[in-house]
Amino acid sequence: MYNEIDLDKIDISSEPPTEEPARQYYFMAKCREWVREFEKKNGRLPCFFTQTFGCQMNARDSEKLTGILEEIGYITANSEEADFVIYNTCTVRENANNKVWGRLGYLNTYKKQHPHMKIALCGCMMQEPEVIDKLKKSYRFVDLIFGTHNIYKFAELLFLCFSQEGTVIDIWKDTDKIVEELPIERKYSFKSGVNIMFGCNNFCSYCIVPYVRGRERSRKPEDIIREIEKLAADGVVEVMLLGQNVNSYGKNLENPMSFAQLLTKIEQVQGIQRIRFMTSHPKDLSDELIEVMGRSNKICKHLHLPLQSGSSRILKEMNRHYDKEQYLSLVEKIRRAVPDIALTTDIIVGFPGETEEDFEETMDVVKQVGYDSAFTFIYSKRTGTPAAMMEDQVPETVVKERFDRLLKEVQRKATERAQAFTGSVEKVLVEEINEQDETLVTGRLSNNFVVHFPGTSEMIGKIVSVKLKECKGFYFYGELESSV
Ligand code: SAH
Ligand code: SF4
Ligand code: F3S
Repeated sequence: MYNEIDLDKIDISSEPPTEEPARQYYFMAKCREWVREFEKKNGRLPCFFTQTFGCQMNARDSEKLTGILEEIGYITANSEEADFVIYNTCTVRENANNKVWGRLGYLNTYKKQHPHMKIALCGCMMQEPEVIDKLKKSYRFVDLIFGTHNIYKFAELLFLCFSQEGTVIDIWKDTDKIVEELPIERKYSFKSGVNIMFGCNNFCSYCIVPYVRGRERSRKPEDIIREIEKLAADGVVEVMLLGQNVNSYGKNLENPMSFAQLLTKIEQVQGIQRIRFMTSHPKDLSDELIEVMGRSNKICKHLHLPLQSGSSRILKEMNRHYDKEQYLSLVEKIRRAVPDIALTTDIIVGFPGETEEDFEETMDVVKQVGYDSAFTFIYSKRTGTPAAMMEDQVPETVVKERFDRLLKEVQRKATERAQAFTGSVEKVLVEEINEQDETLVTGRLSNNFVVHFPGTSEMIGKIVSVKLKECKGFYFYGELESSV
């Protein structure tokens, strides 16, 4: 963990400071007092469990929550049988919500037997007024509810939750605030996500994210660089730059800066060996970025370029601002500049009004591009988005049949692409001991392929050369060639 401040030096008998992040450190010190009392009374430290739903943004946010809980003295628990449970929720598709409702039912039963336990909910789902109404009405055992815009206030809200009866609810509609320098506890010692921007301004017609994450806000380049320098000093070799549309980074800064310019600065940070980013919206992907990717030896040979649909008509309805031809020529341009790049994508099947012809266009793009992997989603109606009001929702059986056809094609192409790597020697960042077989370690190539090979825990976090011996479709078995 970094950004450590000695909480014991903070005068908690005085009024809380008004400026941030000092105010949050003050409340962390207050919460630490509470933790000490708990320890005295129970003869043990309280423990917490976080469960993250959704994307890498949420995963990074959960590291912030963990950082604060550990700072105040909580220890981690391995399951929901804990003193404090927090769900960081996602609402991008209906099934993300359903998972949360399901698990809350289980938590309620557990809490009845352990009444001292606290339950907190945060994240994207909490930004939806219907969700809050439902929680207020039928889930009164939840102790703390906050949203995406005020996550930096977690310590303050936690203190409120410790010191008052009833549910603490704090949801903001939007914000223009970015609070820096709070504690963060990373999941991995050698790699880290780094937020470069928050929110989204694109309003793709099916998508709830702009409504729950607010307007686009870029972090200042100097704050990003400072964070990455600290991470590098702490042993991080790979960073994943995070934003809903990283290609529009910097447009609203006081001194505007492009994403490509930011990348060039990040490349200069000593110790950082790999740079990844997501997500790239095709409409904003610049020639400047392609050029920087072509000449960089730190930016990974992987681009996630969501297609969503191959039909120009549907793309227009989706408000994506590109058509099939533009997407395909962009792919061609990228492949020309970075020949060995791996391309991955997101595709939605069954957007309202999608005909068999539209779907065939999607299949055609998949065949032409040959993605190294693709996330395929069944369209999910999100209340409040323009697409939810569209007529012609596609029947479930039709969608399911198209989805299966698409998945088959995606997998066929991906296996074909992976197979071509068999026999080659590649640089691999070792990430963890293999879950199924402890004599193996698992690592990732620059192009994001996964390889399992004989190794030990000392190799974790190191970049080594591995021969890819056997292709298993989406992953490889390999053998260590040499340590780099
Ligand atoms: N900002 C990223 C995507 C964030 S959401 C981008 O624009 O690429 C991740 C993916 O979820 C999207 O790319 C899309 O494919 C999918 N998705 C979003 N809303 C959806 C919905 N209503 N139904 C099904 N899939 C959806
Ligand atoms: Fe959603 Fe589109 Fe924004 Fe991505 S770019 S988060 S799909 S609105
Ligand atoms: Fe889900 Fe929110 Fe991410 S809705 S996909 S967790 S931005």
